[in-house]
Amino acid sequence: MATPDTPSFDQGFWQEHWNDSERAAAKPVAANPYVERETSGLPRGTAIDAGCGAGAEAILLAQQGWRVTAADISSAALAKAKANAADEAEGIEWLEADLSTLSPGRQWDLVMTHYAHPSIPQLDFYKRIAGWVAPGGTLLIVAHGHAHSHGHHAPEDQPEDVQRTSDDIASLFSEPEWQVVSAYEEWRSVGDDGPHLSDTVVRVTRAAGPIDR
Ligand SMILES: C[S@@+](CC[C@H](N)C(=O)[O-])C[C@H]1O[C@@H](n2cnc3c(N)ncnc32)[C@H](O)[C@@H]1O
Repeated sequence: MATPDTPSFDQGFWQEHWNDSERAAAKPVAANPYVERETSGLPRGTAIDAGCGAGAEAILLAQQGWRVTAADISSAALAKAKANAADEAEGIEWLEADLSTLSPGRQWDLVMTHYAHPSIPQLDFYKRIAGWVAPGGTLLIVAHGHAHSHGHHAPEDQPEDVQRTSDDIASLFSEPEWQVVSAYEEWRSVGDDGPHLSDTVVRVTRAAGPIDR
């Protein structure tokens, strides 16, 4: 629930976020390092980036031969992502949708999300998009870790619910349906004088065949 200290993270919030004049004019940022690290060894196929923002991670995947759907609730984010992709990657399918309610009616070989803050509880969002992973496919979650510092961002960007440990996230996924491949926390700096980020990374794979329960 939205409070004076916690925004609702609804469509209006994100549209305003991406229409902010400074952010709208900002140069493209590089994809976070976990995309390359966690997906480079996977067989290429279909992929969705859930909450793609300005598109850096979706563009990187498309450049590496994935057939990518880049989805976001904000048309302003998608406009920026499309502009960033223009000379960089072809064939990305752009999807403007509220992924906290969408029933996509299909699955992807790779479902990934990076720092998405939806209006529904963070872990519910991860469980929801896990259902979109095809049998034998992969789910990659990059989340804010605890003690996160966005530098120039307002503190209300960081409510407790979005700050997650790898245990919080990995515990959503159990055998035999899921196998946890990666689960860790890491700090990184963005640029020379950019923010210092606490990140949580979880990669799981879904069983390829039917599950005996
Ligand atoms: C903090 S930004 C991260 C953007 C990008 N993934 C990155 O790592 O830079 C979170 C993104 O999730 C999107 N988002 C939030 N709630 C969403 C929802 N319910 N459905 C689709 N996208 C959503 C926002 O519009 C925003 O672009």
